[in-house]
Amino acid sequence: ALVSLRQLLDYAAEHSFAVPAFNISNMEQVQAIMQAADACDSPVIMQGSAGANRYAGEVFLRHLILAAVEQYPHIPVVMHRDHGPTPDICAQAIQAGFSSVMMDGSLQEDMKTPASFEYNVEVTRTVVRMAHACGVSVEGEIGCLGSLEAKQETGGHTPVKPDHNRLLTDPGEAAEFVKQTGIDALAVAIGTSHGAYKFSKPPTGDILVISRLQTLQQRLPNMHFVMHGSSSVPQEWLQIINEFGGDIPETYGVPVAEIVEGIKYGVRKVNIDTDLRMASTGAIRRFLAQPENTAELDARKTYQAARDAMQTLCQSRYEAFGSAGHA
Ligand code: G3H
Ligand code: 13P
Ligand code: NA
Ligand code: ZN
Repeated sequence: ALVSLRQLLDYAAEHSFAVPAFNISNMEQVQAIMQAADACDSPVIMQGSAGANRYAGEVFLRHLILAAVEQYPHIPVVMHRDHGPTPDICAQAIQAGFSSVMMDGSLQEDMKTPASFEYNVEVTRTVVRMAHACGVSVEGEIGCLGSLEAKQETGGHTPVKPDHNRLLTDPGEAAEFVKQTGIDALAVAIGTSHGAYKFSKPPTGDILVISRLQTLQQRLPNMHFVMHGSSSVPQEWLQIINEFGGDIPETYGVPVAEIVEGIKYGVRKVNIDTDLRMASTGAIRRFLAQPENTAELDARKTYQAARDAMQTLCQSRYEAFGSAGHA
């Protein structure tokens, strides 16, 4: 059944777990996410970005999620709009039936220029008022997450070095923001960034600024925190991509163990896009490179390889974040 983000995260907080929020653009991703959730009995958050709307079309994207809800009536599903750039776009998603929206007012409408605190409060409050009147939840963001901007300019292909100090969420500002907006969940910047190029050296275990999360939780004990840029950039998939014709430079993501640490301090929604892209790209490259598949024309077999790889990845995240068993 379709549920709001607030309903799901309140329950997750009671039981001290987090839910991975997977970005989707196509049917195979939706099916992988749902098959994995069904296998381990996990609730689901699926989210669509502006890029996903451009790729699939808003109507297809929405109906893919609604198909999942119909096919798996026993699994709670949140249909979330990721990084809504304006109140108008959030209103459209609410109207279309999304059960949760993110108003990303940390950036101006161009999604590039950092916005003022006052602007962020203003647009986020507007969305909260509309959304709550419809039973829809709102995620806000305070502090600037790394490389959304750089990602849009380069298509995500250029390694970007995040500047940790500049990006961290200020706890005082966060507390004021929550008070003035009435949001249901807060995206915080604690050292992650979007895309595959988060860290150029192997992360040493303290890559997230957990101390900042601890302070945030002391200031906001009832808030649900959202971690963006939470892909782990699996080295095994990176190697498979490169073994079968890819050319991805050395790069690292957020270790799953660090996310698990964050869950102790109120992280309840963990955004993952890049890892599914890596699993499907690696699985497709490997499948097509096999000698027995060189004459294969049934493209469903290729997509099946991608779907299987994504399903395995999703299930391991449900299990690691503790949402398995809670559908
Ligand atoms: O928020 C970032 C997500 O990874 C979405 O990326 O705009 O390429 O769909 P996208
Ligand atoms: P990744 O690029 O780390 O998968 O992050 C996705 C995200 O934060 C979507 O909002
Ligand atoms: Na989001
Ligand atoms: Zn994000």
